[in-house]
Amino acid sequence: MNYKKVAIVTGGGSGIGFAIAEKFTQEGIFTYVTGRNLEKLQVAAERLGANCRPFQFDMTWLDKIPDFVNQIAKEHGRIDVLVNNAGINFKNGMLELSDEDFQNVILTNLTSVFSLSREVAKVMVENGCGSIINITSMTAFYGIPKVVAYTASKAGLQGMTRAMAVDLSPLGIRVNSIAPGFIETAMTSKAFNGDLRRKQKVLERTPMGKMGTPKDIANAAYFLASDNAEFITGEVIRVDGGNAIGF
Ligand code: NAI
Repeated sequence: MNYKKVAIVTGGGSGIGFAIAEKFTQEGIFTYVTGRNLEKLQVAAERLGANCRPFQFDMTWLDKIPDFVNQIAKEHGRIDVLVNNAGINFKNGMLELSDEDFQNVILTNLTSVFSLSREVAKVMVENGCGSIINITSMTAFYGIPKVVAYTASKAGLQGMTRAMAVDLSPLGIRVNSIAPGFIETAMTSKAFNGDLRRKQKVLERTPMGKMGTPKDIANAAYFLASDNAEFITGEVIRVDGGNAIGF
């Protein structure tokens, strides 16, 4: 079958990545969901149906990225959309954070995004078009305690979005980011676990007074992936209930 578009969603087995893959597959985009745990991916793929293919791939396997991308390109001759969604957080005070833990977060959330985007862009160039979407965070805009490595990775990713957009625009590839506010997923429930004060603070400074859902992010990703966003690049869409502009 010839699909309208082919997409890769990293970390697509759960949370925000799953919701993005769900929206894409419902809209007829053939979507590869990647992640570390094959069983989890297979369960996700079963729920997503025939337009989804699970692909076990750990983002930290940098040297295997070219093969991974070539395999997908060979199967379809094209990759239209890449959503760099996979990410980890590591909550620890700055004085207790080791170099190893810092590097680990940077490797997963930033370095691997660069490597994967570069390889996918090489495929997109052949078709003269493509959309890369980076999932960043409120930490790219303001300081949150105990997440210094995560903040460095997401602020870096926000900056890299602009630089990649400038480099890739002449080649027909758009690069944008979505900065989610606080969204109900396993990641936030872990961050808020035993820290109700933190959760209360989030809600107090969010004008809409609630957390978002993964679907809110999926709708924005679908827009950025679509031709409706054809003149938008280097942009960030904050999907945050007003959190970043709240007092
Ligand atoms: P999640 O923990 O449910 O999803 C993260 C996904 O990334 C998981 O499927 C995980 O297996 C995958 N992943 C992690 N390391 C990987 C690796 N080395 N290789 C392949 N896959 C890997 O969390 P959530 O909330 O859905 O997060 C998705 C993205 O959204 C992350 O980049 C996160 O930083 C970002 N985000 C989430 C917010 C929230 O409120 N939930 C707020 C701001 C940003």
